[in-house]
Amino acid sequence: MSAVLKDPIPAPGRPESTRPEPRPGVLAIEAYVPGKSHAPGVEKVFKLSSNETPLGPSEKAVAAFAEAGRKLEDYPDGSATVLRQAIATAYGLDPARIICGAGSDEILNLVAHTYVGPGDEVIFSEHGFLVYKIATLASGGTPVVAKERDLTADVDAILALVTPRTRLVFLANPNNPTGTYLPFDEVRRLHAGLPANVLLVLDAAYAEYVRRNDYETGLELALTADNVLMSRTFSKIHGLAALRIGWAVGPAHVIDAMNRVRGPFNMNTPALLAGAAAIADAAHVEKAVAHNARWLPWLTEQIEGLGLKVTPSVANFLLIHFPDTPGRTAKEADAFLMKRGLVLRQVASYGLPHALRMTVGTEEANHLVVAALADFMSGNSSAGQEAGGKDK
Ligand SMILES: Cc1ncc(COP(=O)(O)O)c(C=O)c1O
Repeated sequence: MSAVLKDPIPAPGRPESTRPEPRPGVLAIEAYVPGKSHAPGVEKVFKLSSNETPLGPSEKAVAAFAEAGRKLEDYPDGSATVLRQAIATAYGLDPARIICGAGSDEILNLVAHTYVGPGDEVIFSEHGFLVYKIATLASGGTPVVAKERDLTADVDAILALVTPRTRLVFLANPNNPTGTYLPFDEVRRLHAGLPANVLLVLDAAYAEYVRRNDYETGLELALTADNVLMSRTFSKIHGLAALRIGWAVGPAHVIDAMNRVRGPFNMNTPALLAGAAAIADAAHVEKAVAHNARWLPWLTEQIEGLGLKVTPSVANFLLIHFPDTPGRTAKEADAFLMKRGLVLRQVASYGLPHALRMTVGTEEANHLVVAALADFMSGNSSAGQEAGGKDK
């Protein structure tokens, strides 16, 4: 006969408690706060806060999504066959080396849950994507933060932090929110300096936008090395953020381990079909690349022309630095822009309290931001209200 236990018995390493307690590390997580999508009191809003594409998704993806909506009673294909095949075709890969997730967020969490536990360390850089810290803590691991140089990941600083407890290194290339990147020689040097039992996760969420001869996504390393995983997303250039589609390619043993942890039906059918159609629509991707190639330098030049520093970006967003002077701060600029329906992203949670991140938007949105920032910097706040009113 089993006895009824009235007094809780503390588990080893856990404090005594009268209620269920999350695992150590969980309450240290600061929940991710997404970019805002509304501007109170403004009808026409330009959401430039989450690095989505102003061009929207491929029409072919929208049609595939609509078609999938006609049959929702069956479980999705748990192996994501159609999508893995479409990705494999687009990049000339073996589908067996691909894993899909509900956004690359799921991939990043999955890799942490697969390789990291209490006592293990995970290295990422100072202004790296916030999900790395969340995934590490949620897995019970210890985040280890490497200093950056000029808002760019520093290979030597990362390598100096490697210990026998290191399990993973996360590197966003290009990085969000800085927009900076590491040339591939540096990525190779990072990989060469890591012990064979440390998994290097190259997060190439913005890869399609990069137009630099010395940039590579890491695909080849992920195919040839035993300890490199490269992750990608359909949320940015493919314009399918709402569907949550990400993927990764890596060594067979890594994909196998992650597949054991992955939920059996982690991808839904509309996402699988829309994703497959999107990646096959190369013309749509090219259009988005061309749009960004036109407006990223224009915005950088115009905003710098207002006396604001902009970190050189290779992605579809830019980091704008504001002075610490009252009336000119990032927070005040954010409020000013909001009044005109221009929703940017505060990045204090990334350790950048004096900056705002702006996604490259439509031609209209880009012009409005530059005009609004010009008014903000010249202290012309009343012009703000009028311009916002006119534009509605
Ligand atoms: C660097 C980086 N990685 C991954 C993601 C996650 O994207 P998703 O989960 O939508 O695929 C983002 C989104 O902002 C990102 O900036």
